[in-house]
Amino acid sequence: MSSLPPRSFGLPLIGETLQFILDPQFVEKRYRKYGSVFKTRVLGKPAVFMVGSEAVEFLLSTGFENFSWRDGYPETFQKLLGRSLFVQEGEEHRRNRRLIMPAFHGAALARYFETMNKLINKYLLKWEQKRDFKWFEEFKQLTFEIASQIFLGIDSSDEAKRFSDLFATLTDGFFSFPSLPGSRFHKSAKARDEILAHLDRVIDQRREHPTDDALSLLIQAEDENGDRLTSEEIRVQALLLLFAGHETTTAMLTWLVLELARHPEVLELARSEQKEFDRTITLDQLTKMPYLDQVLNEVERLHPPVAGGFRGVIKPFEFAGYHVPQGWMAQYSILFTHRLPELYPNPEEFNVDRWKDTKQKPFSLIGFGGGSRICIGLAFAKLEMKLIAAHLLRNYAWDLLPNQSLEPVIIPTRRPKDGLKVRFQRVD
Ligand code: HEM
Repeated sequence: MSSLPPRSFGLPLIGETLQFILDPQFVEKRYRKYGSVFKTRVLGKPAVFMVGSEAVEFLLSTGFENFSWRDGYPETFQKLLGRSLFVQEGEEHRRNRRLIMPAFHGAALARYFETMNKLINKYLLKWEQKRDFKWFEEFKQLTFEIASQIFLGIDSSDEAKRFSDLFATLTDGFFSFPSLPGSRFHKSAKARDEILAHLDRVIDQRREHPTDDALSLLIQAEDENGDRLTSEEIRVQALLLLFAGHETTTAMLTWLVLELARHPEVLELARSEQKEFDRTITLDQLTKMPYLDQVLNEVERLHPPVAGGFRGVIKPFEFAGYHVPQGWMAQYSILFTHRLPELYPNPEEFNVDRWKDTKQKPFSLIGFGGGSRICIGLAFAKLEMKLIAAHLLRNYAWDLLPNQSLEPVIIPTRRPKDGLKVRFQRVD
């Protein structure tokens, strides 16, 4: 039998958990020394880390059957998020995903466009009046309001704020210890129960009177066998979609405006592209902005909000001449795969031109994951980010304020340390 991947497990029990959490170069250092597959011990388990497009393709696609999503997440996720897509496997996952998918693609996105546009305009006006602010916090409020209105039809800012606070408490519990009395986990579970109780009421209302929101689409969704989601399935999936959908988009938007401020030549070209269109932004226009697409690809490459994905190994496998036993964890690295010089020359450089006419290697741009479990909100997030970008490029200017750290922090979402303080103004 082949040998285990290289590198040591570190200390007994805790292994290298502290280094993994504290050292931003954890994966990079080990990759440089041992190559695309190496072992360690983190979060209480032996783990294999997989870097590079071939390794990622194996984990997300060709060797998919060896891995479990559910076993890759800490028990807090399973307890707090219930039986939602994140922790579903096999036929149960396929069935739920097939029924949820239409609410986040094609005709549904067209239905959401006006609501999204209206909320973006509201925030642009607010930012104009505020002038100086931390953009990460502002984007977070905006993306949450968009998600809560479009997914659940919540159309008052006060209610969105109450929901957003409940979500902040819920999110705190993901990295806590359920068995410790008084731990954050218990507060978090209480917040989750309040959100679910609200969702139950809205689901009942929507069954009586369907509207244009995603929840109504989930209630009506039917597959080719006439199968539908139950209310219990809808409430946990809606909770997950709200959770997964806003902080990731917030982080990518923050890096987008930061990189545009750092690269005036890119900002100018992106502004010129917008001048080719009529004044009123339409859904159709957004599909015809190749330069903005290049900019967004480069932001996704250099600043993926999700640094990597964990799985449980449910069947032993061989990869690159190494043997990985059942019961281990596996992590595919998004952040570091995007920074491999063999895939992206001068990887640390923000270079929009690298996306001009290049044929991309499969599984080399994986900010939204890949394979059959690729992010279900990809089209929704891209629409939202492009619409916000188009408004900003057409009518606004922003400068970075002094005395702030732009260094990335990774947990809970990768973003500039001080939240990106800017001065904002209208410039038509
Ligand atoms: C820029 C924004 C976003 C980024 C970077 C992002 C990133 C990701 C990534 C990397 C994964 C795969 C994780 C893994 O393989 O372990 C994923 C899965 C997922 N995302 Fe997103 N996401 C974004 C926006 C959204 C939005 C807006 C929604 C909801 C509408 C959403 C819902 C989900 C769900 C439900 C999954 C699990 C899919 C499944 O298992 O079938 N995401 N996302």
